[in-house]
Amino acid sequence: MKKVFVKTNNVKRFITMMNNLQNRAEGVPGMGLVYGEPGLGKTQTINWWAFKNNAILVRCTQLMTARWLLNEIMDEMGEVNCGRLADCFKIIIRNLLTEPQVIIVDEVDYLAIDSRAIETLRDIHDKTNVPIILVGMSNAKSRIKRFKHLYDRLSEIVQFKPFSKSDIAGIVKELSEIEMTECAIKCICANVNRFRQIVKIINKAECYAKANGLNSIDEIIIKEILNDEATDKETVQTTEQV
Ligand SMILES: Nc1ncnc2c1ncn2[C@@H]1O[C@H](COP(=O)(O)OP(=O)(O)OP(=O)(O)O)[C@@H](O)[C@H]1O
Ligand SMILES: [Mg+2]
Repeated sequence: MKKVFVKTNNVKRFITMMNNLQNRAEGVPGMGLVYGEPGLGKTQTINWWAFKNNAILVRCTQLMTARWLLNEIMDEMGEVNCGRLADCFKIIIRNLLTEPQVIIVDEVDYLAIDSRAIETLRDIHDKTNVPIILVGMSNAKSRIKRFKHLYDRLSEIVQFKPFSKSDIAGIVKELSEIEMTECAIKCICANVNRFRQIVKIINKAECYAKANGLNSIDEIIIKEILNDEATDKETVQTTEQV
């Protein structure tokens, strides 16, 4: 599979959001929310953007506390953790005031459990005015809504949407190293609409083609892969039930 970053419509809407937040008028709050179903490319997009724009990128985890969150931000800044929470907070604020950096927080749903952690992001935003982007699952918006003061600071909200058939055809053509017939592409379009699923199918199809010395992937191969995937999932479900 080719290592290319595909600028899907979701990616384009994300870039517009980031431009709006970075160029916003004075007084307009600078927090943003990105949310959507699994496998639509949210993490890939923020990784790509953060790398290009020297942003601070933090990925939350199930057990994350406010202290842990601040430590992660310190790490990203190349600062040594100084132990005291108040000192960490001051260093982060000082650094962002001297050299503003966008902060992006992935898997924010985990933070929505601990109000201290999520409200710390609001504090950082209020003190420094740097854009802070929260990225989460499909129900992140309703979870964040519970934190009224934080929700009020969201100037931009982007929902990553499942792909249309023409989006998928474009993605397959850009990513697949081995040529796919039009029927093979149609078959993928008819059956999947998320990036992670598309990538898995292309990968399996390429492995099959390489193992069998084929230079083109047709509809029959794709159908077999889709059938195998469906059987695997059924087996997992049955095992889980037992
Ligand atoms: N723009 C892109 N260009 C190329 N490949 C991509 C792109 N976006 C996503 N992918 C591929 O799809 C996979 C899934 O994307 P990603 O992990 O970003 O989804 P996600 O929306 O963050 O899912 P989750 O909600 O489960 O965290 C990636 O590992 C990558 O292989
Ligand atoms: Mg993700």
